[in-house]
Amino acid sequence: MTFAPLQNDRFLKALNREAVDRTPVWMMRQAGRYLPEYRASREKAGSFMDLCQNAELACEVTLQPLERYPMDAAILFSDILTIPDAMGLGLYFETGEGPKFRKVVRTEADVAALPIPDAETDLGYVMKAVSTIRGALNGRVPLIGFSGSPWTLATYMVEGGSSKDFRHLKAMVYSQPELAHALLDKLAQSVTAYLNAQIRHGAQAVQIFDTWGGALSAEAYREFSLKYMQQIVDGLIRDHEGRKVPVILFTKNGGLWLETMADSGCDALGLDWTINIGEARRRVGDRVALQGNMDPAVLYASPRAIRAEVKRILDDFGDHPGHVFNLGHGITPQVDPAHAGVFIDAVQEFSQR
Ligand code: CP3
Repeated sequence: MTFAPLQNDRFLKALNREAVDRTPVWMMRQAGRYLPEYRASREKAGSFMDLCQNAELACEVTLQPLERYPMDAAILFSDILTIPDAMGLGLYFETGEGPKFRKVVRTEADVAALPIPDAETDLGYVMKAVSTIRGALNGRVPLIGFSGSPWTLATYMVEGGSSKDFRHLKAMVYSQPELAHALLDKLAQSVTAYLNAQIRHGAQAVQIFDTWGGALSAEAYREFSLKYMQQIVDGLIRDHEGRKVPVILFTKNGGLWLETMADSGCDALGLDWTINIGEARRRVGDRVALQGNMDPAVLYASPRAIRAEVKRILDDFGDHPGHVFNLGHGITPQVDPAHAGVFIDAVQEFSQR
C-alpha cells in the first residue's frame, strides 16, 4: 500500500525530539461522546462495537475532531478491549456500566485455553479501519495506532469488567505469580502482533495505554506491567515506509517511575496531570519526549482558565524539543466542544516559535 505524503509531521518530529515550529497537539478520546456528530454516528451504527467494526463509520468518527479543530494527529477509532474480545471472552457494553466480559480468566485452565489472536483475521476489522482511515487522511496528519498494556488488559479479563481494587488479579499476582506471568506473556505476544499489524496497515506511531499500571506497588509495576510493555517495545517494527515509528508509553499514575519507563526503549512517555511536566523533563532529560499533561477537568472551566493552564504547562516544559501537548487522560462526555476548541487554539497560539 502506498499513501499520500505527510503534510504535517510536527507530531512525529516532536516524538523524535526534533525542533518544530509550534507544539503539536491532540486529545486522548478526541473522537467521543462530547461531540454531537459522534453520538449521531454511534446511533447510526447501533452500538459502540458495531461502530468499531464498521471501517467506514470508524473512519468517519476518527475524522470528526479533525474537521472541527486544527489537530496534529488522528487516532484510530477502536478500543483496547478488542484483543480480549478476539480471545473469545465476549465483550459487551452495559449502558452506564462500562465494558463487561461474558467469560473471565481466573484459573490455569482459563489461561491455557486463551488463544493468541491472529491480527490479520481475528482482528481484521481493526486493520481494515486503519487502512481506510489512513487513506482518507490523505496525508493531512499522522495516524496513531494503539493497544492496551498487558497489565491493563488483564485487569478487565480477570475482573470481568471495570474494577476499583483489582482484587482477583492482585490476588493472582501475589499468590500465583507464575499464572499471572503466563497470562501477561500471552497478552504481550498478542499486543506485539496486533500493533505490528496496525503499523503494516498504516499506523505511523503507536501508543500503549497502561491505564491501571499506577495501581501497583513500585516492585509489582516493574515485574507485572513495565516488563511486558518492554517486551512489546522490543518486538515492534520501529521503521516503516522510510520513517521511524515512535512508541508512546502511557502509564496513568506512573509519575513516580518515569526514569525506569524512559529506559524501556520507548520514544515518548505520556503523562497524566499529577506530575509537573517541567519536573518530569528534568528527571528523564532528553532520553524521551513527553506527551501531556493537562487535567481534562480544566475543560469544564472558563476559556480564560483553560488558556492560563495551557500557558502554564508550556512555560513549565520550557523551550526544549520533545513536547506533544495532550490531556492527561481522555476528554469526558460532558465537555463543551467549544472549550476543546479553546484548548487546541491556545496551544497553537502560545507555542508559536
Ligand atoms: O482516543 C480516541 O479517540 C480513540 C478511541 C479510544 C476509545 N477507547 C474509544 C471509546 C481509545 C484510545 C480507547 C482506549 C481505552 N478503552 C482505554 C485506555 C484509555 C483510557 O481511557 O484510559 C480503556 C481503559 C478502554 C476501555 C473502555 N472502553 C472503557 C472503560 C469504556 C467505557 C468508558 C465510558 O466512558 O463509558 C470504553 C468504551 C469507549 N471506548 C467509548 C469510546 C469513545 C465510549 C463508548 C460509547 O460511545 O458509548
